[in-house]
Amino acid sequence: MVRIGVVGAGYWGPNLMRNFAACPLTSLAAVCDQDAARLQKFRRLYPGAALVPSLDDLLGLPGVDAVALATPVQTHYPLAAAALRAGKHVLVEKPLAASAREAEDLVRLARERGRVLMVDHTYLFSPAVRHLKALIDSGEVGDLYFIDSVRINLGLFQHDTNVVWDLAPHDLSITQYLLGTPPREVVAFGSCHADAAGGIEDLAYVHLDYGGGLLAAFHLSWLSPVKVRQFILGGSKKSVVFNDLEPAEKLKVYDRGFTVKTEDQRRRVQIGYRMGSVVSPHLEQGEPLQAMVQHFARCVQSGAEPASGGEFGLGIVRILERAQVSIKSAGPRVAFGGAADDPPRRAAA
Ligand SMILES: NC(=O)c1ccc[n+]([C@@H]2O[C@H](COP(=O)([O-])OP(=O)(O)OC[C@H]3O[C@@H](n4cnc5c(N)ncnc54)[C@H](O)[C@@H]3O)[C@@H](O)[C@H]2O)c1
Repeated sequence: MVRIGVVGAGYWGPNLMRNFAACPLTSLAAVCDQDAARLQKFRRLYPGAALVPSLDDLLGLPGVDAVALATPVQTHYPLAAAALRAGKHVLVEKPLAASAREAEDLVRLARERGRVLMVDHTYLFSPAVRHLKALIDSGEVGDLYFIDSVRINLGLFQHDTNVVWDLAPHDLSITQYLLGTPPREVVAFGSCHADAAGGIEDLAYVHLDYGGGLLAAFHLSWLSPVKVRQFILGGSKKSVVFNDLEPAEKLKVYDRGFTVKTEDQRRRVQIGYRMGSVVSPHLEQGEPLQAMVQHFARCVQSGAEPASGGEFGLGIVRILERAQVSIKSAGPRVAFGGAADDPPRRAAA
């Protein structure tokens, strides 16, 4: 049994607690939160777990093997570094850290101390994403043309991070897992509405060029009245739509696309359309978060590098950082006239 202490009992932490408590390979040894009232709610749920107000108290408990951090992103680095220095294995919620420099330091620390460092990029453990990777690797999708993801909903507005750092880790980690390579270029647009004074983007469009004609576009928003979680991957043979809000048929494989017929005498390309069937493959059942915590426990037991280990998490942070630079620098854009700081558009009175 790997004995775990979970730090952060806010929105996401209880999901980690529930899964560590249910996992046959782990036990929930402690719950830590600086908010005493929040902490007390877990006394009845997990009577066997120690309740502590700080990471220092958690690190002082005997027999805790690993620490899982579900605290705001700005705290990931100091808390993870302290836990690694204390000889604990560490699971960090996505994203690994608030900067690539911090993430690099955590990777170095974990290597020096011989501890497992893993990031909870939950989608890597989703049966739909695993199936999608198998379709790509088997050649069934063909050459990859595009990835188009829409991840929008109303809120949850955050004060210390923007919509890119909050939501894009999902799309970036799925894409990194599927392709195994980082993008060549990143360009991003973002705008602030709820917290314009704080400069916190709540709407963003992140575009990536993976080379070979493969482009990806991620649309991220806390402003949308409807929740959408749709990830489309287009290939030369098949295209796949992953809709995470579908209860049953999360993945649909479309035998649809185009075929290039021979050029005519005027050297114009003749395009034909392929309108084949749509198949919803059978997917394994099971909660991705449970698969994630089991993977973490196995890596702690065996010393193996996790699928979403420190290096993987660092790669995601590097892309987030570049997207942020692109947003803030309003990089090379082709202007259509009008000042960059035009006031928001309003309907005519
Ligand atoms: N994997 C996913 O799908 C997913 C989903 C949501 C959130 N997250 C991640 O989970 C993390 C937490 O997000 P959240 O929405 O639960 O935040 P939250 O603000 O709801 O909760 C954070 C908790 O951490 C506590 N805390 C903060 N600093 C602390 C410290 N130094 N010591 C002890 N406790 C401390 C706070 O009191 C609070 O209870 C973020 O990294 C976020 O990106 C992941």
